[in-house]
Amino acid sequence: MARALSHDIMYLSRPMLQIYCDGPYPYILENHPEVDWFEIISENYMDSGGRPRYVLDQIAERYSVVMHGVSMSIGSTDPLDFDYLAKLKSLANAVDARWISDHICWTGVAGLNSHDLLPVPFTEAVLRHIVQRVRIVQDFLERPLVLENPSSYVTFAHSMMREWEFISRLAEDADCGLLLDVNNVYVSSVNHDFDPVEFIQSVPHHRIVQCHLAGHTNCGTHLIDTHDDHVIEAVWELYRLAHRLTGGVSTLLEWDAKIPEFPVVHAEVQNARKYMDSECTASSLRSPNILDGSTSVRTPPERRHKRSTVPHPASFVTAEVE
Ligand SMILES: [Fe+2]
Repeated sequence: MARALSHDIMYLSRPMLQIYCDGPYPYILENHPEVDWFEIISENYMDSGGRPRYVLDQIAERYSVVMHGVSMSIGSTDPLDFDYLAKLKSLANAVDARWISDHICWTGVAGLNSHDLLPVPFTEAVLRHIVQRVRIVQDFLERPLVLENPSSYVTFAHSMMREWEFISRLAEDADCGLLLDVNNVYVSSVNHDFDPVEFIQSVPHHRIVQCHLAGHTNCGTHLIDTHDDHVIEAVWELYRLAHRLTGGVSTLLEWDAKIPEFPVVHAEVQNARKYMDSECTASSLRSPNILDGSTSVRTPPERRHKRSTVPHPASFVTAEVE
């Protein structure tokens, strides 16, 4: 199993590492900005050498790195791709990745990669299928897998449970970690008309390893998870709730498109400090024991089911495919 994190958390920066050398690479290497760790898109580095890998190695020397993937396709009916998993494991060892995450989704079938994070039906059969695959992946990687709730734009008529129940049972049955994308919760809550506060209050907080924050695009009838703007206030308020309930876990801002200058992104992520519970100060932040082989989970923080000020966006009517 992976080692326990040796120090406290923080933020930023998957966007930087996604951009070839014309991006903020030079800024990062020259200025060593004050961030605690970087998240990389695993697939961008699994097969690459040259300049991208040189930059990654430079960053990994100075900062902690976590890996975030988009192609594991854990929900697919295709067999698991062990060539992919072997590359993932090799990269994780090379950069000493603190953890590996991906999404609760499928990205393709019959060997085709859609390059989209496609939703799964929330049924008992799908739950058993994914749990079994997560266990196999964790055994192969020899470290816990951390799974993220994706944004979604369709639901399935034959789903038997709510998304948060599916995620909760998945994490417990597979003994894996969770990455709570707070913006994804909000986007899906608008698109499918559920209460984002209930979602965040209901997932097992002791299994949440990391939070994501991002901006999205409001299309009037629905939201799209575009990662191309500032985080909206409603998402910040949900983050305040998530931070309190998890006891404070790693937080990352995703800004993948229309990326502004590095200082603008940096200022946005630093904004997160305003929403952190004063009882969860930086010095009290800890990595969940789920990443430590000594025990499955850490002691859950006290759950204070206080309603946040986030309004339930029930007024949105969304085209829903059922
Ligand atoms: Fe995310």
